[in-house]
Amino acid sequence: MDQIVIQGGRPLKGEITISGAKNAALPLMAASLLTDETLSLSNVPHLADISTMARLLAQHGVSLHMNGGAENGSNGGVLELRAGTISSVVAPYDLVRKMRASVLVLGPLLARMGEAKVSLPGGCAIGTRPVDLHLKGLELLGAEIALEEGYIHASAPGGLTGAAVVFPKISVGATENLLMAACLAKGETQLVNAAREPEVVDLGECLIKMGAEIEGLGSDRITVRGVERLKGASHAVVADRIETGTYAMAAAITDGELDLIGGRADHLAAVIEILNEAGVSVQETNRGLKVSRANGRVTGVDVMTEPYPGFPTDLQAQTMALMSTADGASMITESIFENRFMHVPELSRMGANVNVHGASAMVRGQERLTGAEVMATDLRASVSLVLAGLAAEGETVLNRVYHLDRGYERLEQKLAACGASITRRRAAE
Ligand code: UD1
Repeated sequence: MDQIVIQGGRPLKGEITISGAKNAALPLMAASLLTDETLSLSNVPHLADISTMARLLAQHGVSLHMNGGAENGSNGGVLELRAGTISSVVAPYDLVRKMRASVLVLGPLLARMGEAKVSLPGGCAIGTRPVDLHLKGLELLGAEIALEEGYIHASAPGGLTGAAVVFPKISVGATENLLMAACLAKGETQLVNAAREPEVVDLGECLIKMGAEIEGLGSDRITVRGVERLKGASHAVVADRIETGTYAMAAAITDGELDLIGGRADHLAAVIEILNEAGVSVQETNRGLKVSRANGRVTGVDVMTEPYPGFPTDLQAQTMALMSTADGASMITESIFENRFMHVPELSRMGANVNVHGASAMVRGQERLTGAEVMATDLRASVSLVLAGLAAEGETVLNRVYHLDRGYERLEQKLAACGASITRRRAAE
């Protein structure tokens, strides 16, 4: 298994080009199931999760072609997907267990084929993460849902029918599944208390290019008027706001200066507000964002994760790494997922002072962190350990690197190009 080895203490200086967002690319790929014409997606990041979704779609009968991208050093590739015929409506356990977002094929398969059989995602390291909101929403659109032998069996032989779906809780994935399904339902669907994340908007904009009738994207009330069929389209995946935020924190934690090319301030308002409060300058340039400390050490500030436009849970772990080195204390509250503090014991091994009480963590900033051997537990937790390692004195060795490969494109190359000492090696057995 691979390890990442970091010699810390070097300020990062230079440019990092932000990749297309994994969390936008995954639902966009699933949307290809809604039409028999070609969907062409550009700025698709090369990531393990994208490959998992590609394998899943291929076994549903989608033909896929990836042109360009990471192998030749350029950023993002063009992925063409064509679901001419759907050869299977079954999403098997083997693929779904690797990636929860596989459940995003449920809505499109059901809408197009009147049937879908998708494995229940099962346990997940960052909490139970049920799919009840997806299922209840689809039931309101007329689907019959049965749970059999670990599979969600959804059927709507006569097609789906538009309805009002009021989500009791905001869910990105459930909003995306329902948005896709509603495009081919008869009549009008209202999604109330819908997720407002930029990735949901990106999906909706692509669906509109495919011929869908959608209003209210980016608000908590989305209206969809169903159409008979959707057509092919070309769409560029939105820049990854989580990757942007992660590298902004890398600049801050190492006392460096980074230009984040393609980074969008409008998608990071809550994060920029916190960074500014902590003494980090984030300036819009004509190419993206420029990030550096404003004056000396970062100061501790309180952070609470919330659905968009609030502070994203996917930047909570990275923020904790930053706050571990801040002047003063910071209370970090996780309101989206239970059990999303698994990075705490690992950060503590590097000298961070963190006490967890329920959904909140009290972080008392330290003058310095020290390198250690640590273990990644999930995607965002692992990148928080990379950030801590970049700032720490001495060597940090990160195990279970595969988590990083799910969500960060060419992480070591991007950081090394800005002066980080970071390499990947095969661990001794
Ligand atoms: C997406 C993102 C993930 C991010 C999360 C929250 C993708 C591929 N993943 O995940 O990176 O951390 O949004 O911003 O886009 N819930 C239910 N029932 C459901 C569905 C969700 O109770 O049927 C709960 C979850 O357990 C969680 C909360 O709702 O507590 C939000 O989850 P959700 O927005 O659905 O997250 P995902 O779409 O899985």
